[in-house]
Amino acid sequence: MEIITDIPALRLYLKRESVIAFVPTMGNLHEGHLSLVRLAQQKADCVVASIFVNRLQFAPTEDFDQYPRTLADDYKLLENQGVNVVFAPDEKGIYPVPQEFLLEPPLLANELEGEFRSGFFRGVMTVVLKLFNIVQPQVAVFGKKDYQQLQFVREMVRQLNLPLEIIAGDTVRAPDGLALSSRNRYLSGEERAEAVRLYRALSNIKQEVEAGNRNFQQSCKNAQENLASNGWRVDYIALRQRDTLASAGEGASDLMVLAAAWLGRTRLIDNLEIDAR
Ligand code: PAJ
Repeated sequence: MEIITDIPALRLYLKRESVIAFVPTMGNLHEGHLSLVRLAQQKADCVVASIFVNRLQFAPTEDFDQYPRTLADDYKLLENQGVNVVFAPDEKGIYPVPQEFLLEPPLLANELEGEFRSGFFRGVMTVVLKLFNIVQPQVAVFGKKDYQQLQFVREMVRQLNLPLEIIAGDTVRAPDGLALSSRNRYLSGEERAEAVRLYRALSNIKQEVEAGNRNFQQSCKNAQENLASNGWRVDYIALRQRDTLASAGEGASDLMVLAAAWLGRTRLIDNLEIDAR
């Protein structure tokens, strides 16, 4: 496995490759990231993973400084998984000058995650576009765990005519159902036991809706109250249309329930697909 930190060296190395599949990450890798690598391997002989904690997508009040950085462990995991190239630039490599051209995401960026993380999607989309331009992959893999991010990436590729295919990987969960996340590291032992309540709340909504309950608002409100009464602070729990993330009317069938909530000082997000037929 090649570990490359600067753009000219990466470009030189990748010149010889015909099909590249790319997995962008912020490191502190877990089985969720590795499942994306395996998807990438089905699509190309050369798999590039990037590790870059992107300051641009963190608000000043957020956890940029604290975000777990475990490069040595990450390299081992990627090497064992058979990744060909790790691109691990430093901040100066990605942002040699202040980033003044920023990618403005659509209005949906003010909803769901975007309502609570101002500037988040501008930062994500800008760095993803930069990484696509640096790596120039034919395929890139993103997780459904960050479903709104995945939708934005798909839409950016479509609207900006980027010549690559986006593949989506299912959310990998711990045995109790908690979605794997680098931020799970922040949870205390007690919080970790409690954390599964978010997944259970979404699973309840899924069950209710699939059993024919069309009172989406009430279902979400019940889930929100259940979490709140167990010490959570809920940012949102919402039912949306799966393909556009637009609000779901009563007749909608391909749905998604998405949530973000704080447990102590940790913000967790999760979502589930719902087939309301
Ligand atoms: P990061 O949170 O490191 O996630 C990298 C990729 O792994 C994303 O596509 C994310 O959806 C996926 N992922 C995370 N947890 C997962 C899980 N439990 N199961 C499956 N996939 C999972 O998302 C980012 O980094 C950044 O915003 C990035 C796209 C790299 C831009 O900075």
